[in-house]
Amino acid sequence: MMQQWFKDAKLGVFMHWGLYSVKGIAESWSFYKGEISYEDYMAQAGGFTASRYDPVKWADIFTRFGARYSVLTAKHHDGFALWDTRYSDLNVVKQTPAGRDLIGPYCQAMRDAGIRVGLYFSHLDWSHPDNNAIIRPDTDLPYHPRTFPQGAPDPKRWKNFLRFHRGQLEELMTRYGTVDLMWFDGDWEKNADQWDMKGLREYLHRLNPQVILNSRMQGYGDYETPEQGFPVGDPVGEAWEYNVTMNNSWGYVPTDQDNKPVSRLVRMFTEVISRGGNMLLDIGPLADGTFQPEQEKRLLEFGDWLRPVSEAVYGTERGIGLRHYCGPSTLSKDHRTLYLYAFGRPGDLFLKGLHTPVKKATVLRSGRMLPVETMIGAPWNGVPPTVWIPVPEEEADPYATVVRLDLDGEVSLFEGAGGAIAYN
Ligand code: GLC
Repeated sequence: MMQQWFKDAKLGVFMHWGLYSVKGIAESWSFYKGEISYEDYMAQAGGFTASRYDPVKWADIFTRFGARYSVLTAKHHDGFALWDTRYSDLNVVKQTPAGRDLIGPYCQAMRDAGIRVGLYFSHLDWSHPDNNAIIRPDTDLPYHPRTFPQGAPDPKRWKNFLRFHRGQLEELMTRYGTVDLMWFDGDWEKNADQWDMKGLREYLHRLNPQVILNSRMQGYGDYETPEQGFPVGDPVGEAWEYNVTMNNSWGYVPTDQDNKPVSRLVRMFTEVISRGGNMLLDIGPLADGTFQPEQEKRLLEFGDWLRPVSEAVYGTERGIGLRHYCGPSTLSKDHRTLYLYAFGRPGDLFLKGLHTPVKKATVLRSGRMLPVETMIGAPWNGVPPTVWIPVPEEEADPYATVVRLDLDGEVSLFEGAGGAIAYN
């Protein structure tokens, strides 16, 4: 069910943490694609120490970043659980030097810090012997023995898998207090009927009626989560989330130092929120539970930009759109305050078609008042004047300058093209 907190949250952190962080290779896919043998992949368990795992510190960093929710991989496609699941020995307690449940302390630390708790869970499980009992009839996936039945489809084995799947989800949703968001992935091998997604949705709601489900539920989720590729059209639904890696890898891959500059993260973020979305930014912790210093640094720098302008972010709604202002914008819930984002040396901010007069313009970070100049309207055709707001160079923020406009009433926009003067 979509919850208001999610629409207000705007920013989340995503973490891919698992065995793959030991060798610094791709999560799950590395063995599935044969880049490493299954045995060598699983042998990473011996190096998964979590020796410096400090979720309270994680929560502190996320708070300073500005995240209002976080999502941790409880189980990726490899089937290796970060908690003490009784349904499989493939878990951190039984097989790694970490030797303890890692999900509980994470949930607790996030909750204590006021950060909403999200867990990533892969429906499919490439370690479970019954994962390949059946496959969706219309599949165009390339053949893989962990995915395709070896002989005839076997509904009995599939039932067994579903019991396992539901059982693990019950553990996650009942052992650790309230889980606010279940972030699913790996639904593609079977169809909605085979997963019984409708039943799964009901089941999860019985465990927690308030839980939000992402879209990888084949029509039974609550919101779309476009991944990596920046969406141009707006995803359908009342909320959405752009899910993107800080570098080019989901987990810890030390050879990948291609972290996005903070200025670009800010720019992407402001575009996402100006269109009513959230941004879920992914980082890859090391096997000892610490963050890559370069990723941590960027989270904190991002937060330093965000903190002084946070009223233009949290709890806002999509802005006025690019035809009226050529840049990102957001609106307060009462639609009486408009926040404009500008980049580089903004010069004159230029607004068109704004019926509602601007009472006051201020640079949000400094509080400095700016002049509001209006020019050339066509009142006889109902066209409001253009609005120009010069931003002095010394007010330019290296990441994004935010200007607050106090409007004289709820925002009202002219959408037409105007026309000639019929009589003057
Ligand atoms: C892709 C990757 C998967 C990752 C997910 C996160 O599906 O294949 O490994 O967990 O994106 O959205």
